[in-house]
Amino acid sequence: MFPLHRGRRLRVNESIRSLVRETTLSPSDFMFPMFIMEGENTKVEIPSMPGIFRRTLDLTVEEVKELFALGIRAVNIYVKVSDDLKDNTGKEAWNDNGLMQSAIRAIKAACPEMIVMPDVALDPYSIYGHDGIIEKGDVANDATNDALVKMAVSHAKAGADFVAPSDMMDGRVLRLRQGLDAAGFHNVGIMSYSAKYASAFYGPFRDALDSAPKEADVEVPKDKKTYQMDYANRIEAVKEALWDVEEGADMVMVKPGIAYLDIVREVKNAVDVPVTVFHVSGEYAMIKAASERGWLDHDKIMMEQLMCIKRAGASLISTYFAKEAAILLNKK
Ligand code: PBG
Repeated sequence: MFPLHRGRRLRVNESIRSLVRETTLSPSDFMFPMFIMEGENTKVEIPSMPGIFRRTLDLTVEEVKELFALGIRAVNIYVKVSDDLKDNTGKEAWNDNGLMQSAIRAIKAACPEMIVMPDVALDPYSIYGHDGIIEKGDVANDATNDALVKMAVSHAKAGADFVAPSDMMDGRVLRLRQGLDAAGFHNVGIMSYSAKYASAFYGPFRDALDSAPKEADVEVPKDKKTYQMDYANRIEAVKEALWDVEEGADMVMVKPGIAYLDIVREVKNAVDVPVTVFHVSGEYAMIKAASERGWLDHDKIMMEQLMCIKRAGASLISTYFAKEAAILLNKK
């Protein structure tokens, strides 16, 4: 006559719901991706990412202090490099006095406890907008790895806590580990973008850094599908993550987020290191655009997406919503 089970007893009011809640969010779950440019006292909003700016170094440092005060403990940093510093070797990437290296030093000096994770990949430095060196019509894996090692060691010298290779070259985690150790940086960690898919969700990011694959006078791939993963694949993500852990990754990443939560859980179950999820630029843009039109409730959608990413298995979430979400969580 009566239902045998009454699941609703655990949902009667917010107090009981809070007692049985399986997942919680806090500001230290988030990493904030930041775009840095040359100059002084200037910030430029990214048109496809309302509320997200490219900032000069001085303003970046101010923002980092605010983030720290809100409870955020990590930033991923990306630089926009002027065209005259771009070439096919990416050599500006390991200029010890380059914008990235100066940014790492300035952030660590102003806010020593903030974990700084510079991006390791050649795309912001490449005339072709690719993550590595172009040879014979494709990105050359092993030559690119040599460049990435120089880049990561240069970041470590500047004071990076972690390096975050987002390039998807084969074997780069082992090369980076060996290179960092040989240079004396055994405490600098590696957060590897292990399962990074060739995704259309990165569009706004490429606008921010002017880093999309470009037309060229030589033969270059028009997209990143020869190194980033095919989004039809699931098992391959586990394989990539296991390889990276074996090669010495301290953390692995799955990217993008919301459309890839099956991958997040699969990887989480397979590895014994923390899993980071990148809630990427296009995911941010979608929520902003729909809520500007009044079609979605911005704050509710933001918190739901972040909570679902955590529930799926993320230890850390790299998200452009980090600051807004931290402010909301601190109010409660
Ligand atoms: C490039 C890189 C990309 C992102 C992070 N690092 C773009 C790409 O692979 O083309 C995307 C991040 C985002 O969309 O928010 N190495």
